[in-house]
Amino acid sequence: MSSTCDFVVLHTGQKMPLIGLGTWKSEPGQVKEAVKYALGAGYRHVDCATVYSNEAEIGEAFQESVGPDKPVKREELFVTSKLWNTKHHPEDVEPALKKSLKDLKLDYLDLYLMHWPHAFERGDTLFPKNPDGMMRFDYIDYKETWKAMEKLVEKGLVKAIGLSNFNSRQIDDILSMAAVKPAVLQVECHPYLAQNELIAHCNKRGLVVMAYSPLGSPDRMWKHPDEPVLLEESGIKKLAEKYGKSPAQILLRWQVQRKVVTIPKSVTPARILQNLQVFDFNLTGEEMDHIGSLNKNWRYIVPMVTVNGKLVARDAGHPFYPFNVPY
Ligand SMILES: NC(=O)c1ccc[n+]([C@@H]2O[C@H](COP(=O)([O-])OP(=O)(O)OC[C@H]3O[C@@H](n4cnc5c(N)ncnc54)[C@H](OP(=O)(O)O)[C@@H]3O)[C@@H](O)[C@H]2O)c1
Repeated sequence: MSSTCDFVVLHTGQKMPLIGLGTWKSEPGQVKEAVKYALGAGYRHVDCATVYSNEAEIGEAFQESVGPDKPVKREELFVTSKLWNTKHHPEDVEPALKKSLKDLKLDYLDLYLMHWPHAFERGDTLFPKNPDGMMRFDYIDYKETWKAMEKLVEKGLVKAIGLSNFNSRQIDDILSMAAVKPAVLQVECHPYLAQNELIAHCNKRGLVVMAYSPLGSPDRMWKHPDEPVLLEESGIKKLAEKYGKSPAQILLRWQVQRKVVTIPKSVTPARILQNLQVFDFNLTGEEMDHIGSLNKNWRYIVPMVTVNGKLVARDAGHPFYPFNVPY
């Protein structure tokens, strides 16, 4: 079975493989083997972030598998990382990137994303909180942060910069002042949150969309008791039967067939392999439309915190919280 991965081309000219390996929640004890296995299986794209607290272990996998005399050449690999919310002040941006590079044991990143538009209190505590459990925010404008990220491109430390969890208005706000245009928007996207308007908005402006939580993020904390389970969706299961594929493969095929890059996370070798094996069949136009019609604007990823014993949306009180507009 084919494990060759198709790609899209960013406005920078870089080729970005349509499937990458997600690494959020991949435990430090498991992620090194997962990345090594993925690279051996044919993955050439890995999605990382400072806040996942596992970049040093991913770096060990890169050290063993990537290099001039190693199975994978550096220029064949696409590595993304993300600037965390506590590092939005311009003077914190380059040191934060350099810490990721050091941990990942790389000289440059292919893509560096601003993880969220809103900032937390500066410092080395990833989740600074008040005694009642509420987040300690910082109100720096994300455009200030963007200017500092542009310098990373000028210095050759990153090949492209982009955004994550920005809404359409915030994207346009960045575009109105950017000297270096964002190449990518990474957002939650799957049939229950199809993001058709946001994808059209980005494509018109030259940004490639990267879908996170493409399988519905079944292993995350803060699950809603009544939430719909994407991998159990009957229309998806029927298509899986028809094509002799798994439900996960149907969900991923839908994304890559509409040229949306996606980054399923797994630490299980058989799943890592099957998630790449989505380039040897085609869904019909009708099936693509049917999957798109499952949209219910359901967002799985709304980070929660406990404040005074009650579970509340962690960032909803911040003026740059992105999810208060339709898209
Ligand atoms: N920018 C952001 O704010 C943001 C937010 C969320 C996620 N992300 C990125 O997107 C990546 C993917 O999202 P995610 O981790 O939330 O969730 P996901 O990829 O939708 O789902 C991961 C879960 O699905 C399981 N799984 C993987 N392949 C499977 C298969 N073929 N069949 C059945 N189950 C399968 C995994 O299990 P095992 O690991 O046990 O195999 C894991 O429990 C993240 O890891 C991260 O890199 C970015």
